[in-house]
Amino acid sequence: MATDLDSTWVSVERGEIDRRIFSDPDIFEQEMELIFGRAWLFLCHESQIPRPGDFFEAPMGRDNVLVVRQRDGGIKALLNTCAHRGNAVCRAEEGNARNFMCTYHGWTYDIAGNLIGVPGLEDLYGGDLDPSRHGLAQVAQVDSHEGFVFATMDPSAPPLPDYLGETGTLGLNLIAAQGDMEVIPGIQKFVIPCNWKFAVDNLFDWYHPQVTHLSALQTGMLGATPPGARLMDSGGAQTPDGREIQLPGGAVGGDVIDSIVCLDTYGHAIAGPTAEAFGAGGLFDDSWRRTERARELLGPVGSRVAGHPNIFPTLWVSSTTQASLRIPRGPMETEIWWFSFVDRDLPPDQRAMRVFAANHVFGPAGLLEQEDGENWAQSTIQTIGHRSRQVPQLLRMNLGRGKVVRDGQSPPRIEGTTSEHAQLWTFAAWSAWMSGCGWDELRRRTVPPEVL
Ligand code: FES
Ligand code: FE
Repeated sequence: MATDLDSTWVSVERGEIDRRIFSDPDIFEQEMELIFGRAWLFLCHESQIPRPGDFFEAPMGRDNVLVVRQRDGGIKALLNTCAHRGNAVCRAEEGNARNFMCTYHGWTYDIAGNLIGVPGLEDLYGGDLDPSRHGLAQVAQVDSHEGFVFATMDPSAPPLPDYLGETGTLGLNLIAAQGDMEVIPGIQKFVIPCNWKFAVDNLFDWYHPQVTHLSALQTGMLGATPPGARLMDSGGAQTPDGREIQLPGGAVGGDVIDSIVCLDTYGHAIAGPTAEAFGAGGLFDDSWRRTERARELLGPVGSRVAGHPNIFPTLWVSSTTQASLRIPRGPMETEIWWFSFVDRDLPPDQRAMRVFAANHVFGPAGLLEQEDGENWAQSTIQTIGHRSRQVPQLLRMNLGRGKVVRDGQSPPRIEGTTSEHAQLWTFAAWSAWMSGCGWDELRRRTVPPEVL
């Protein structure tokens, strides 16, 4: 029997997704309006724009916005499109500006977006143009949590704290709790020929590393014992000729890791190993978890969480100190941005280690993401074949057996081993967003069920 969470495209009851949602141009257009035109989207971290005039260009769907630090310390998000003929008023990806002068005809805007200069205003326009009416368009709402700046195009969207909820807040706090965090200069940006939802699905997926990342693990790049590692027992991955795969030091994934899945309204989710399971093989010292600040920011459940949060729709907080945006550029094209964070007080050698890891784990030169990207691209291509696209995609691991615990400790969660609950929840919420319902209805429809 179909549930309230089911839709044309997603069956929560069967754990099946219609593959056409990964390449259909019409669905992509609707996503731009119904999801990216309404959701609170991550733009940048406040440490990237500390001084007045500092700016960072960020995507909101297919709109480009300039996130600009104001003279009063506030932050504005301005559409990077001239009020005259639409040209971008800023060509740099980040920097500091006294004003923004359009390179087409020279209209000039101050850092608050006011139009302050029009060549020929008197001589050519005869004074018949009111500059106060032609400033840069502003994004409807801007707010930040622990330095993470978000914005929404929808003036009726709920306030950011309500939107983030317990799970979204926890996701951001998993970085914020690690110290006085700042973004390492330089955002890694690259394009993968895949649908953005494959990249989001994968961030929760602790089932694939033992196979997908076999070669990366064999290099020893993640240390002798990879994060969350356990020696594989029988029933683990096998080569095509039937041999069981033996990894140096063990394998990530499989069905043997104690895991926590957090689910929340609007589609936010976290999935992955417990801190205890992850800690033994983690890349970095996790003593920060035992600080007072961490205990306060994470709470009892968060203190046990080491898995990957996704702030719906596209902000992944990784298990290290990185955050990634999965930016839809087209139905079959996604741009990935990696922001790497570091505690300002970290000694130089440890800071260098963070940079090394940021370059070699994820990103365009990162071994893991090169391996992941191949899978996402191939999975996307297989959704356009006339027959292939009729084969449903499966998210059935532990289906119907994930009891959502609500014991007064937040957020709501499913405890157990590796599962596909977080992915299924993301797609269920995606359906609710794509229905176009109002915010109240959206919130009601994305309250996690008793069992998933
Ligand atoms: Fe910007 Fe004309 S398009 S000044
Ligand atoms: Fe991966």
